[in-house]
Amino acid sequence: MRIKIEKLIYEGWGIGHDENGRAVFVKKSVPGDVLDVKITKEKKSYTEAVIEKIIEPSEKRIDPPCQYFDLCGGCEHQNIAYPDQLKFKEEIFRETLSRTKIETEILPIVQASEPFFYRNSIRFFLVEQKSGKKIFTRHNYLYTDGLVEAESCLLQSVKSNLILSLILEVVNSDRNKSLSGFYQVKIREGKFTDEFMVELMTDDNKLPFELELKTALNQIPEIKSLYHTVTPQRQLRNIRRRLLHGSPIISEKIDKYKFQISPDSFFQTNSLGVKALYDKIKEFAQIEMGDTALDLFCGTGTIGIYLSTLAKEVVGVEVVQSAVNDAKVNARINNIYNCEFIHADVNMWLRNEKIEKYENIKIILDPPRAGLNKELIKKLSNFLSLKNFTNLIYVSCNPATFARDINEFELHGLKLKKVQPLDMFPQTHHLECVGLLQKI
Ligand SMILES: C[S@@+](CC[C@H](N)C(=O)[O-])C[C@H]1O[C@@H](n2cnc3c(N)ncnc32)[C@H](O)[C@@H]1O
Repeated sequence: MRIKIEKLIYEGWGIGHDENGRAVFVKKSVPGDVLDVKITKEKKSYTEAVIEKIIEPSEKRIDPPCQYFDLCGGCEHQNIAYPDQLKFKEEIFRETLSRTKIETEILPIVQASEPFFYRNSIRFFLVEQKSGKKIFTRHNYLYTDGLVEAESCLLQSVKSNLILSLILEVVNSDRNKSLSGFYQVKIREGKFTDEFMVELMTDDNKLPFELELKTALNQIPEIKSLYHTVTPQRQLRNIRRRLLHGSPIISEKIDKYKFQISPDSFFQTNSLGVKALYDKIKEFAQIEMGDTALDLFCGTGTIGIYLSTLAKEVVGVEVVQSAVNDAKVNARINNIYNCEFIHADVNMWLRNEKIEKYENIKIILDPPRAGLNKELIKKLSNFLSLKNFTNLIYVSCNPATFARDINEFELHGLKLKKVQPLDMFPQTHHLECVGLLQKI
């Protein structure tokens, strides 16, 4: 089938229409492309397809710098120059809000300072071929459980790629020795501290090539933390970790603050972009001395700590115990004493906590991609009846659930006054945004 791509929509899809006017979604396509495509999924109202041949490339199409781009599911837009990616992302964001009938001030998108090499965390799968050769793979976007050979990634640092190549050298040093249950490598790094954490992940207690891996990776002094991580059945439940070398944590810096990160704790993937994000939160929150800042879904406490000097006190709530531990240590190492971090599910905490007791309150919400549930939105909106409630800041890495939740807040008497999209994830379809909600 031949189609012309009209525009980009959510999750990296380009959209065109077949001769019956039915929508055809094609990943890795560029608006203006004329393509021969092969159908991969047919639904009543739309079709999914993959590119078979580019008949006429869009004038916006460029050669992707990554050699794995055509199959790798890591990113969708390397075939579009960065300034054009930004325009498309802003358009998609505006459309997402207008489709859900949200009227608000949308500020121009904030661009990333580094369109490549920005990621501070990445995973690669290890696979053993029939010949005994071991390769690194990433998710193949064409098939849900497919993999594509990829030995490096342009979204992570040169040093991360070097670590991968060293590991590959070691595991290929003996073709007859099996990988056994060694199936994944995870690398995290502090972009402003040059500290690396490497996790060698197996699905049983044995780590093949352990001694050789330790010797090879010890050559890189920036690896401050080396773990053997056991994930039974390759699930994230019942994880066991053995520290093979160095410290259990690494550090990262945001502006003048230093943060410790342990393996299970969330940390924003793009350290280089975090300051811009947190400055926007600061600008929208307008925290005044005497305010309590509630940092809900606080992770390692980064937002709360960043805002702490403005507030009387910060209360952070987070469900992952190790992240709460990190948050407490983070406050201490930054000599901050007005932050309290609570280990709890935000939903349960809000059900039981009387937040009316805080005199003046500014609420910051930074939930995972799935967004908020209706009960939590209702509960928070009910606090509006309190005269001391002013600003609610909603930080989201998923415009679709953000728009859904804003609609729900607006049903309960709040208004999205303005929203700032920020590109924290160049080359991919992902987008971060910060919204300011106030009482109507
Ligand atoms: C998008 S991250 C934000 C972290 C932090 N605000 C930051 O900027 O680094 C979302 C956080 O919410 C936590 N989380 C997820 N569900 C939760 C829940 N029901 N209650 C509390 N925290 C939750 C996750 O563990 C994660 O740390």
